[in-house]
Amino acid sequence: MIVDKQLKDKIHSLIPGGAHTYSRGDDQFPENAPAVLIRGKGAYVWGSDGARHLDYGMGLRSVTIGYAQKEIDAAAIEEIKKGNNLTKASMTELMAAEKLLTLFPGMDMVKFATNGSTVTTAAVKLARAYTGRKLIVRCADHPFFSYDDWFIGDTVMNRGIPKEVSRLTKNFRFNDIDSLKKVFTDYKDEIACVITEPTTHIQPNKGFLQDVEELTHANGALLISDEVSCCFRVDFATYKRYDFHPDMVTIGKGIANGYAVDALLGIRDFMDLGGIRKKRERVFLISTTFGATMSSLGAMMATIDYFRQHDVLAYLWKYNEQLMKQGNKIAEELGIGNAFYFEGFPGRLNFVTKDSEGNHSPEFRTLFLQEMVKQKILFPWITNSYAHKEKELDMTLKAIHTTLEIYKKALSKGITKYLEGPAVKPVFRKYN
Ligand SMILES: Cc1ncc(COP(=O)(O)O)c(C=O)c1O
Repeated sequence: MIVDKQLKDKIHSLIPGGAHTYSRGDDQFPENAPAVLIRGKGAYVWGSDGARHLDYGMGLRSVTIGYAQKEIDAAAIEEIKKGNNLTKASMTELMAAEKLLTLFPGMDMVKFATNGSTVTTAAVKLARAYTGRKLIVRCADHPFFSYDDWFIGDTVMNRGIPKEVSRLTKNFRFNDIDSLKKVFTDYKDEIACVITEPTTHIQPNKGFLQDVEELTHANGALLISDEVSCCFRVDFATYKRYDFHPDMVTIGKGIANGYAVDALLGIRDFMDLGGIRKKRERVFLISTTFGATMSSLGAMMATIDYFRQHDVLAYLWKYNEQLMKQGNKIAEELGIGNAFYFEGFPGRLNFVTKDSEGNHSPEFRTLFLQEMVKQKILFPWITNSYAHKEKELDMTLKAIHTTLEIYKKALSKGITKYLEGPAVKPVFRKYN
């Protein structure tokens, strides 16, 4: 059997970054995590080391029901048998559009794609086309909107992107309406759109999203709610939960249980700029060969049905509620509740790792991940699924207990003795 070290060397020699997503990179995981994964089933993945791990990464949040869920795979296979990708728009595409739109009140039209980056970039393009303005304002506290230049140019990792492009993106702070007011004052009549997630693990303060909406519209800009990460986890349409009225919404990740479907949804006035029936100047909206692949859309429709039949959203929340409550209790009882804790709300959890001085610590984060891996749990962030049942919750809580006992020792005796590899690093950093 090829050992993990050889596999790591090989994959880095063939694929820049050693994976097709930076958040899947070796620098995001402890040294003892499996080099590559072979397969997944339910809440588990099997690594190149042959071992089964309980997973809280769930395909970068894309797997909501469970890996290789038979009803979803069967729906995808049905579509594969119909040819998977035809020469004109497919009946599957039409049905998928109709079905998806029922979950997003206020949205009239939809364009499918296979990546979240594609749909957020399309939303920004439509806003620029509609307003005739250049500037984009994005929330600075939200980690990722797109791998395209308009977003990456506004991060520290902006090599390869002309300054002229980077300068077209401005930012504001979540739950700080004054920071958005300032951007609108500084760049009056220049802003095409504001893009924000409606929530992360930090929820909007009361009235904040409504203020964003009012300010954006009063200044003639369009509002984009990026729900790629929160859709089908916080809610179907998260904007609705927060009584927020965006002009366009972007979704993806969990909507098809791991199959590649993302979508831009929006009000007709804006979306139809990408249409071909009106006599006017055209906008080249999303247009890709695999944008409406039938197997993925079949999986998406089956995922929607499954969510409705099993009330999956309520289940995901209930599980997280227990995880947060019991996990925090363990840390408290060990007397290290200030150094390790779960934060957020059941729609989206985060865990915080601090050192003995109370500073956020990548080393302690790595120690936590490393000890969880020893107990066969991958915990890069916290994403559950409908396949995470009571047994998995018990297993997780036991592992957290064992891990935090070691964490506690490391807090008093120093971490170097306990950490067995390099600390994890942020994805967005200037240098390796
Ligand atoms: C909020 C948000 N928007 C957009 C994206 C981009 O999605 P994708 O990775 O499918 O391109 C992500 C991905 O992490 C995201 O979290």
